[in-house]
Amino acid sequence: MSGAVHMAKAKLNLSLDVLGKRPDGYHELCMVMQSCSLADEVRVELAAPGDFLAVTNRSYIPTGDKNVAVKAARAYYAALGAEGGAHIRITKRIPVCAGLGGGSADAAAVLAALNELHGGALSETELLAAASAAGSDVPFCLMGGTMLAGGRGEALRRLPPLPETDTVICMPHFSCSTPELFGRIDSRKSRCRPDTAGLVAALEAGDRAGAARRMYNVFEDVLDRRAAAAVREIKLLLLDNGALGAAMSGSGSAVFGLFPDEDSARAAARAAGELCREVFVAKTE
Ligand code: C5P
Repeated sequence: MSGAVHMAKAKLNLSLDVLGKRPDGYHELCMVMQSCSLADEVRVELAAPGDFLAVTNRSYIPTGDKNVAVKAARAYYAALGAEGGAHIRITKRIPVCAGLGGGSADAAAVLAALNELHGGALSETELLAAASAAGSDVPFCLMGGTMLAGGRGEALRRLPPLPETDTVICMPHFSCSTPELFGRIDSRKSRCRPDTAGLVAALEAGDRAGAARRMYNVFEDVLDRRAAAAVREIKLLLLDNGALGAAMSGSGSAVFGLFPDEDSARAAARAAGELCREVFVAKTE
């Protein structure tokens, strides 16, 4: 059987702003997104028409149509206008329900793998449309790098890349519910907004410290009391240990910090161990 292996990189939100609710029920977002080296491994083999399966090393992740990797494979064949099937094997390293886009990254890797196995049958534009159908963050995961994302998250503009930066990614002992956080954003006026224009200007000037200082995520403003305290504690710990900036990613609960060098990142990761369920040292890329 022919197969393809792709790495599925986690995404970090250098910023996340919610501009409002849309008539289609989604939210209009404005985000600066960054891919990083923390990644799942995704193996895809072609299977008999209609036979779709995604198996992971996490027993609680669904293997059928509820898995976004299967959704992406179905979206691929719908875009191709052909019958097909796929057996997908995912080695997960990216924490689940973390705001790190793990599921979206897996979906993007499935699309890239299937397109490789079909000799590049879909153009980049067609592949991005299939990605958008699979999930809001999947187009970014397909493109990677440093991007400004609007719309549902699928309207992308490439930004000058953040120079390769050591990052510490902290997974707290709790997860956040994405729909619940969007609901709270709808019912409250946000007090704090990220300075997206300032962040983009810092990236354009190659000012990494300036970009890191401007990182902020509006969901940090609507966490419940306990989660807010935990996120604040982790951010302070990262900053006290030399981070140039720290923020929560996506709808959380993962918190990350950007560091000037690998030694300070490793020292901060050791210090963060006690506060977190898991801690990763990675590089933006
Ligand atoms: O597109 P995706 O399936 O990843 O989105 C998951 C959920 O997140 C949606 O059902 C919606 O509740 C929320 N969402 C949103 N606005 C966005 C993206 C996601 O409200 N722009």
